[in-house]
Amino acid sequence: MQLCVLESCAEVASKAADHIQQAISEKPDSILGLATGSTPIDTYKEIIGRYEQGKIDFSQVRTFNLDEYYGLAADHPQSYHTFMHQQLFQHINVPRERIHIPSGTPIHVQEYCRSYEQFITDCGGIDLQLLGIGSNGHIGFNEPSDQLSADTHLVRLSEATIEANARFFERKEEVPQYAITMGMGTILSAKKILLLALGIEKAEIIRKLFDTGVTTDIPASFLRLHPNVIVLVDREAGSQLVGNIKEFC
Ligand code: PGA
Repeated sequence: MQLCVLESCAEVASKAADHIQQAISEKPDSILGLATGSTPIDTYKEIIGRYEQGKIDFSQVRTFNLDEYYGLAADHPQSYHTFMHQQLFQHINVPRERIHIPSGTPIHVQEYCRSYEQFITDCGGIDLQLLGIGSNGHIGFNEPSDQLSADTHLVRLSEATIEANARFFERKEEVPQYAITMGMGTILSAKKILLLALGIEKAEIIRKLFDTGVTTDIPASFLRLHPNVIVLVDREAGSQLVGNIKEFC
């Protein structure tokens, strides 16, 4: 994993946007894996700005989102469908039919998960996957557990995740208990992965990511097995990193 500690979240967003812009300029029909949560919001603002300046053209791009709350319809205000349209898709020229976000209301869950997984493969796999990280080490909604799932699946959210995401809902009881998420294998199959972390509440997990081995207790630690991962953190998220961890910025 390559680490880059930047001064501010604006610099993280700018650097992340550089990688996205470069991927699309090298391969205009890039397949992007996209994330929700507060972390990528400034990156999305940055790429919207670059689109408006004519620096990025999304007309041939295809996107796959990591996850969606199970039980929320696409038009629910807290669904990840709504989030993605508000934060990114309605501002850029990615064609609607090239946007893929897991359904939160599939009728046959297992069949649906298999088809989402298969479609990513049929499209040639993800070129660049954007990730946030939960304070508990989850990526997508792959929660710490004795076992992790390889493929897209239905998952029960951990108490820590429900707690963390309650800020987006009026009451904690409204946070869905389940989600559909890409699996660890889906994520690790991406050709390149960009993991972003911002703020002091991510400092501990970022330290653990670099100083513990690969463990299902920290799903993000599996990224150490991938040959092309870039971790971009702001000064606060990088504040517990010590010793001889090399920075490549
Ligand atoms: P956050 O969530 O960006 O809202 O901190 C990250 C995550 O849970 O993956």
